[in-house]
Amino acid sequence: MKVLVVGDGGREHALAWKLLQSLRVQRCWCVPGNGGTALLERCENIPLAVEDIDGIAQVAFKNQIDLVIVGPEVPLSLGIGDLLQKKGIPVFGPTRLGAKIESSKSWAKTLMLEAGVPVAQGKTFTNATAAKAYINQQGTPIVVKADGLAAGKGVIVTQTIPEAYAAVDDLFKMGFFRILVEECLIGEEVSILAITDGITVRSLLPAQDHKRIGEGDIGLNTGGMGAYCPAPIATPDLLQRVDEEILKPTVAALRDRGIDYRGVLYAGLMVSPQGELKVLEYNCRFGDPETQAVLPLLETPLDQVILACVQQRLEELPPLRWHLGTAVCVVAVSAGYPGKYEKGKLITGIQEAEAMGVTVFQAGTALEGDRLVTDGGRVLGVTAIRQNLSEAIIEVYKGVNSIDFEGKYYRRDIGYRARSRKG
Ligand code: AMP
Ligand code: GLY
Repeated sequence: MKVLVVGDGGREHALAWKLLQSLRVQRCWCVPGNGGTALLERCENIPLAVEDIDGIAQVAFKNQIDLVIVGPEVPLSLGIGDLLQKKGIPVFGPTRLGAKIESSKSWAKTLMLEAGVPVAQGKTFTNATAAKAYINQQGTPIVVKADGLAAGKGVIVTQTIPEAYAAVDDLFKMGFFRILVEECLIGEEVSILAITDGITVRSLLPAQDHKRIGEGDIGLNTGGMGAYCPAPIATPDLLQRVDEEILKPTVAALRDRGIDYRGVLYAGLMVSPQGELKVLEYNCRFGDPETQAVLPLLETPLDQVILACVQQRLEELPPLRWHLGTAVCVVAVSAGYPGKYEKGKLITGIQEAEAMGVTVFQAGTALEGDRLVTDGGRVLGVTAIRQNLSEAIIEVYKGVNSIDFEGKYYRRDIGYRARSRKG
């Protein structure tokens, strides 16, 4: 089987790495890929932008690709799923309409409300005056969200009325036509990456991300600074509720709208201190860095799982098999991220880290000749799997510490919530 992975992050490195472990997968193409996928055996990078969906479809067609897996949301929201389907190329990832579950928060919210899925209360606005009047009425804390893809910069959790007003003005200035204002939910977040063939839906193991740049979850939002899996907050009872109250009704609602959704349905959930569940948002793709913690634990060959979705026979797939233990992924970023940062810094120590029994997934890296250099904000993720969380944390940091590049920053507290839960 020949597979093509779209994207250039740690998530895509993890996808390609996992797919190539399957005996059935002969070759992998990554578009555009990164320094890590360039070095994988039987893997080749193709330098096209992820937005160039026509170009990607041509590459897939020309190379007679058997399966395309789309990592990021942007090509999905541009319709890469529709385009590949039209060309008869099997694709894992929803159509443009299905991707609206991520690309339009107001559309997603209406869908969830109609399906009876628990969400934060809120309203949609197309002008600042009305939004501000609503904010005044509701009081703070309150959350202001862009109704469109914003590369992680579209959600502002505000504590005061002036902050909330500024968030409204900023989003309209950024060019969004619609914004959402919603109640601020309190609790602990959990990421449920589920796979669906449009009829059946199955959760992968629950994970927890660490979105803020600073230790103790302070500072700016990032793409994600680390993750662990499984997340103990998601007890079997909670997962059952997620399945019945959230995932199944959502998939049914998508179907009712005539949307044939085959891909990942990623629910970002808030669990309140009382155990109440609400969806913060849906994503139409694998989460990053969650994927770097979830996939290494998957024992069932990934191509088998994905093909079952693409061929709409997920119901027949035997239960997924998982390795025992806990995976912890720590992301190392460039100094200044998520703001401005420099690129082109030499990266050393990856082989030494891997010799210690961790896996390194590269993200913002590039090969310049035989030098591996930084090429993005999130540079790489280091994942350790050990018998329990504490051991995995110790080992993952040994790995992170043996890798070096100028300006390297990482959070030292990945996994702290689960750790304190265990006492
Ligand atoms: P997103 O970038 O859309 O995944 O959302 C970023 C983050 O914003 C989420 O992971 C939450 O931490 C936070 N967030 C979004 N909606 C709410 C809400 N209603 N209440 C509290 N926090 C929220
Ligand atoms: N880990 C957050 C995301 O993938 O959106």
